[in-house]
Amino acid sequence: MTNYVKIFDTTLRDGEQSPGATMTSAEKLEVARSLARMGVDIIEAGFPAASPDDLEAVRRIALEVGNSPKGQPEFKVPIIAGLARANKSDIDKAWEAVKGAQKPRIHTFLATSSIHMKHKLKMDPEEVVQRVSEMVTYAHSLCTDIEFSPEDAGRSDPEFLYIVLGEAIKAGATTLNIPDTVGYTTPDEFYKLIEGIIKNTPGMHEGITISVHTHDDLGLATANALAGIQAGARQAEVTINGIGERAGNTSMEEVVMTLKTRHPVFGLETGIDTQQFTRVSRLVSNYTGIVVQPNKAIVGANAFAHEAGIHQDGMLKHQTTYEIMRPEDVGVNQTTLVMGKHSGRAALRARLASMGYSLDDEELNKAFARFKELADRKKVITDADLEALIADEFYGPRDVFHLEGLQVSCGTLGMPTATVRLRGPDQIIHDFASMGTGPVDATYKAIDAIIQTPCKLLEFNIHAVTEGIDALGEVTVRVRSENGQQTMDAQSEAIYARVFGGHGADTDIIVASAKAYINALNKLIVAETEGRQSV
Ligand code: KIV
Ligand code: ZN
Repeated sequence: MTNYVKIFDTTLRDGEQSPGATMTSAEKLEVARSLARMGVDIIEAGFPAASPDDLEAVRRIALEVGNSPKGQPEFKVPIIAGLARANKSDIDKAWEAVKGAQKPRIHTFLATSSIHMKHKLKMDPEEVVQRVSEMVTYAHSLCTDIEFSPEDAGRSDPEFLYIVLGEAIKAGATTLNIPDTVGYTTPDEFYKLIEGIIKNTPGMHEGITISVHTHDDLGLATANALAGIQAGARQAEVTINGIGERAGNTSMEEVVMTLKTRHPVFGLETGIDTQQFTRVSRLVSNYTGIVVQPNKAIVGANAFAHEAGIHQDGMLKHQTTYEIMRPEDVGVNQTTLVMGKHSGRAALRARLASMGYSLDDEELNKAFARFKELADRKKVITDADLEALIADEFYGPRDVFHLEGLQVSCGTLGMPTATVRLRGPDQIIHDFASMGTGPVDATYKAIDAIIQTPCKLLEFNIHAVTEGIDALGEVTVRVRSENGQQTMDAQSEAIYARVFGGHGADTDIIVASAKAYINALNKLIVAETEGRQSV
């Protein structure tokens, strides 16, 4: 058995299904580029049947990230996968979306637990076996690389799984992904499940890859994935920062860093450049508006911080006393090459290229203008500043409303007041002034008065991108649409409530706050006018 574990990233599919994680096509493309640069083997780019927009986003990723970049034939091109339910229409859409990639994959799934078969699918086990056989055969008639997942495998009867998976192999699937869809199993149980599948599935052979896909409802996702790998799985389905449905998916950084840090235990390799974790984690957090908890393993702000005196003392004597990984191995404190006011356009282009951004001339001009504006206010500009600036300038949602101007007065001597100017659809300019409990409240009230879309602000986070009083402020927000909620009962509301994240960066934190809010509202407006299904 090979000692290479393939990393299948589903940040853009399962990850994007977490409440509020909706990303724009441009953001998805940028995340896909970053995943390819860090060496991910398979990128699940989306669920093309969800909406025409999702299909288009997967198609663009397949074309632009799933092929060798011009002049770089040595680039490791990732497989681009599209998810499809086990029906012809979904499979056709997935194929339509991924076929432009050098290495396309269709990933199809059908539930196999008795709970799902009875209550959700309303199908007999025999019908499920038949459907899997027919749909994997159909998918294989379009695409040579087929992955099949028995949804809710963690709660399925193993004997039934062997039959279903045997049929999938017969019909042409070469990757069998075993999902613990509801994060129910324990590591010991999951180990035995994978071991049993490898041993008992009819037709199992060396060319079949067993994959693990675990959810974190009980906080066991990483432990379960690693147990499955120890039992012989050689593909792990993961997301950046562990984002995903409910409590999330297995986090890529945790699995990869465990395999690397505990190499003597596992003896396994991945193709991931781990020094990119911190950067990509920030990128995904900015685009989704989902803040990474400070104590999150590997990429949390405190993951390498030492507070207790005894720990600090130990660290000063020798780093290995309290650190099992070197911060630089995951990209912490790497990005300190600085630029400033006197850096020119060529230097900016070169710096952005080394960070993996390839901008055309028009984009470079815009980036340069923003860079100069920032350099007038801030002496030293780091990679983190450039990333925040690029995210702010280029990867927002379609600009339904655009911030044209903002003026606030606040402090102890009067009522905080904000005057906001937005350019709306049809290029109409709207001005509104509001008072509030503080400058952000006043600004958001004025924006609400102009945009007039019912929503609730759920979360507001602000942090400085770098150290220093002149730092760029970065704001992430999460807003929930309140459209049509009156007709829903409490349970449906919890399930269907649409949450959208937004991001904004500026040296003026009120401007950053306004941008983040408008960014989230633009996503909400686009999603509600286009409509979208999820898996
Ligand atoms: O968790 C799950 O079962 C899934 C499948 C669609 C693979 O995400
Ligand atoms: Zn999942």
